[in-house]
Amino acid sequence: MNIRPARIDDLMGMQACNLQNLPENYTMKYYMYHELTWPQVSFVAEDNGRIVGYILAKMEEEISDGDEPHGHVTSISVLRTYRRLGLAKRLMVQSQEAMATVYRASYVSLHVRKSNRAALALYKDTLGFEVKDIEKKYYADGEDAYAMRLSLKYISGDVC
Ligand SMILES: CC(C)(COP(=O)(O)OP(=O)(O)OC[C@H]1O[C@@H](n2cnc3c(N)ncnc32)[C@H](O)[C@@H]1OP(=O)(O)O)[C@@H](O)C(=O)NCCC(=O)NCCS
Repeated sequence: MNIRPARIDDLMGMQACNLQNLPENYTMKYYMYHELTWPQVSFVAEDNGRIVGYILAKMEEEISDGDEPHGHVTSISVLRTYRRLGLAKRLMVQSQEAMATVYRASYVSLHVRKSNRAALALYKDTLGFEVKDIEKKYYADGEDAYAMRLSLKYISGDVC
């Protein structure tokens, strides 16, 4: 399995993977916007030319007073038959490194459903994310989200 930066011609495969895995779906225009604006931070996992996992990520555009530049994971998923092989972890780490080195992101944020045990274990236990907030009824079906963050300063070298 090959992990590499996403290209414009991967977007259909990424969308297909998203549609199979998550209820949160996006227009092709939104995928395109990510890829054209921040091409370095989205990645795909490929098996014999087929997209079997992806991370769609961006830099946060609206930064409030006192906040630092930071990345945001819009969506990540891996096809069922390719799970527990470490692909999501590798996709996350590659994107985090690009956010920190290309854009000097000081942290990365994301939202996750409170009930999503697999994703929570990936973010908290494997990658070290912390819960910053609970956003009530964040999802269209009324489920709450954890707003999570991970510092990237260990990559940019701002802390020892
Ligand atoms: C969440 C998801 C992306 C994880 O993908 P993956 O490639 O299987 O994850 P990895 O193999 O990199 O797992 C890394 C670690 O995450 C944790 N983890 C992953 N899946 C898990 C599961 N089903 N149950 C418990 N822990 C899990 C484990 O700690 C795992 O390490 P280990 O395998 O050494 O125990 C995948 O399950 C998925 O696509 N789910 C549907 C889409 C989704 O929920 N996306 C996240 C939206 S916020």
